[in-house]
Amino acid sequence: MNASLRFALAAAGAALVFAAIPAISQVATPEKWPELPRQNLVSPAVAARITTMLSSMSLEEKVGQLIQADISTITPDDLRRYPLGSILAGGNSGPGDDDRAPALAWLAMADAFHRVSVEARPGHTPIPVLFGIDAVHGNNNVPGATIFPHNVGLGAAHDADLVRRVADATAEEVAVIGADWTFAPTLAVVRDIRWGRSYEGFGEEPSLIRSYAAAAIEGLQGRKNTPDFLSDGHVVATAKHFIGDGGTRNGRDQDDNLASEQELIDIHAAGYLPAIRAGALTVMVSYNSWHGVKMTANKALLTDVLKDRLGFDGVVVGDWNAQAQVPGCTRYSCPAAYNAGIDMLMAPDSWKQLFDNTLAQVRSGEIPIERIDDAVRRVLTVKFVSGVFERAVPSERSDAGRFDRLGTPVHRVLAREAVRKSLVLLKNDDNLLPLQPKANVLVAGDGADNIAKQSGGWTISWQGTGNSNADFPHGTSVYEGIRRAVEAGGGHAELSVDGTYKTKPDVAIVVFGEDPYAEYQGDRETLEYAPSDERELALMRSLQEQDIPVVAVFLSGRPLWVNRQLNAADAFVAAWLPGTEGGGVADLLVRAPDGNARYDFTGRLSFSWPRTAMPNGKHRGDVGYDPLFPVGYGLSSKQTVELAQLPEDPGVSQVAQLDRWSFFRRGRAAGSWSLFAGDKDGEERVTATRQSSAGKIVDVHAIDIAQQEDAKQVTWSGGGEGSIWIEGRAIDLSSQAQNGAVVAMRVKLDAPPTDRVKWDVTCGKSCGASIDVTDALRAAPPGEWTMLKVKLACFAGADLTKLERPMQLITSGKLTLTFTELKLDNDASGAICPGS
Ligand code: BGC
Ligand code: BGC
Repeated sequence: MNASLRFALAAAGAALVFAAIPAISQVATPEKWPELPRQNLVSPAVAARITTMLSSMSLEEKVGQLIQADISTITPDDLRRYPLGSILAGGNSGPGDDDRAPALAWLAMADAFHRVSVEARPGHTPIPVLFGIDAVHGNNNVPGATIFPHNVGLGAAHDADLVRRVADATAEEVAVIGADWTFAPTLAVVRDIRWGRSYEGFGEEPSLIRSYAAAAIEGLQGRKNTPDFLSDGHVVATAKHFIGDGGTRNGRDQDDNLASEQELIDIHAAGYLPAIRAGALTVMVSYNSWHGVKMTANKALLTDVLKDRLGFDGVVVGDWNAQAQVPGCTRYSCPAAYNAGIDMLMAPDSWKQLFDNTLAQVRSGEIPIERIDDAVRRVLTVKFVSGVFERAVPSERSDAGRFDRLGTPVHRVLAREAVRKSLVLLKNDDNLLPLQPKANVLVAGDGADNIAKQSGGWTISWQGTGNSNADFPHGTSVYEGIRRAVEAGGGHAELSVDGTYKTKPDVAIVVFGEDPYAEYQGDRETLEYAPSDERELALMRSLQEQDIPVVAVFLSGRPLWVNRQLNAADAFVAAWLPGTEGGGVADLLVRAPDGNARYDFTGRLSFSWPRTAMPNGKHRGDVGYDPLFPVGYGLSSKQTVELAQLPEDPGVSQVAQLDRWSFFRRGRAAGSWSLFAGDKDGEERVTATRQSSAGKIVDVHAIDIAQQEDAKQVTWSGGGEGSIWIEGRAIDLSSQAQNGAVVAMRVKLDAPPTDRVKWDVTCGKSCGASIDVTDALRAAPPGEWTMLKVKLACFAGADLTKLERPMQLITSGKLTLTFTELKLDNDASGAICPGS
């Protein structure tokens, strides 16, 4: 075998995501923080009951209360051996492993767990299990629920009362399925919108988060010190993620926050103080670090600040297996987290071992029993306040089982109001909006009739992928809303995703934007909105050329650099992720039948709109704050403002350009790139957890390596030729090729190829080159991670000034491999270049 054909054994370390960062750790000083009165959640009488209950509990029962398992790995029966205090349904978990399980199945499941937790058995203290779920924009895991705009949209409404009402309605829909607790609201103050979770936050300014926090908590839980508090139709809330989640380096999820302590107090703590005062019963700890120390083990911030200084008396809950990221811990064992002040660890799949290990650690004294007693007291406190001790089995509660409350007309009207109040008008040349009702309207773009895209991540599934309109029985797409409004006025709306039309329209509405994502999978290197194909941009330009006025409706989890699209549209609406009530968009776009505007735009930006594709890190009040549209911006349709032509150079620095050549990372196509699977029957863009090429030759499956869904396992069935590839807008890599750069793929061979395997690159129609990587793959040690590197210069036959597919793996045989990353690299050691 040719030496250069040998596989690069540059085995990448397992902890690829959390590479060790030498950091100077910093310890918080509680005296710097404002001192809040204690929450005093229970009366002395209830406190005494808790003390009595504590004294009757075995150590096993105490430890059990401090662990939360995910419903995908625990059965009600397990609670008899492992008396856990809580269960959750994660973003991808539904009863009976069914994401789309009906509400009745959720309620039956809640009943089953509850019954075992309170059953009379010898030696068992009956303590109801607390059931938590991520209801972050409505009770979003349950089909039929009202999907409200994500927080980014509510932020633009600048309306705390609306936030309260949305939270209240959400709680009502959560209670319907027998859940007791939602992991919301997110109180992140989002400082870098490259962060994939930006849309879960209300905005970038602490003042807004401060003004919303209590409203969100009170909407969910009811008002403290009133009969309303945790009454029927209310659920336990979670202020999350404490603290600094919105301020990590470069907006990288779960990364390090390097803010000073004063900034932590002034900026990132903004929502926590009012939330605690409003009686927030739980606080979820953030995955991020602060100056190199993971929050999950940050005693100074969790115990000395949050509990002692800020007077928090409720439960501090960890995030999904976050303990695994604490040095010296695994997901199965983490005394440091409990000792730092976490009261309950979220151990979705690791609860069994965590239970055994924690028990042993308490017995050995590694975790002091006083710490355990304090934690259990807090869990019991939350349970007493939540009312579960007094309440019946879920299905017999007055607020549960009322399935007509899911997506009830009242809630949908509210959601529609929220949509209306959240839309921000950025451009309205010639006062194009609102449109005349009698118009002949073309509605185009892949977001036009796409409720999944309108709803974004955390919708039915964790990533919000794999949903269709049929999954939203009460939902209205943007197109459908427009159609109704236009037809009511005697006009006509034509839906045409690609923009081809039968009769020339008076006006075109193009609905486009980001595809759904959640958490780190939404992290971006730059703010350039650059989908893999630029269909919508081309369409808008061509409509303009035909003198058809264009209204752009942009669906996104954050502002992005869209200067080209702004130029190509006459009116431009930032619609965020509005959820199921597309009618709210039409309310603003189309006049009433009498010709008057139905409503005016009142939404104003809660995030700065970027001038270039690179954030400059400045916020209102900072020297050098120079966004395209500042926080607070938003037009009324009555204003006459003509937006000047904008520069179309994204202004991305060289460094960021380099970053752009990360094609695939953390389980997902990076930036503007997309992953495809294809065979002779057709190609599929891979967006779901599990997807196949059209003819089922290639199967692509998201799997967990270091994190959830951070890798793709690809299986070729051998039933014909099939391939996977990465595709995006053409880039020029010719100079990199000259400088010896390689395309590197971090891969693990699960089943070796039974036939030849080719790696192709393409540069447009009938432009490309191919090399054979069969031998390299066969030489790879099965089951081990390696870097497969191919020199760019090897693809001499291709025009590398316009590379569209940097990698396409093709075979007709059988093959299974898993990969986590594909990138451009300057380290050519071990690279292959057959024939050179
Ligand atoms: C997220 C939390 C969420 C939890 C449970 C985590 O990955 O960071 O926001 O509440 O999962 O789904
Ligand atoms: C779960 C989510 C969770 C995420 C954490 C997913 O598999 O369904 O709830 O937030 O993993 O990475």
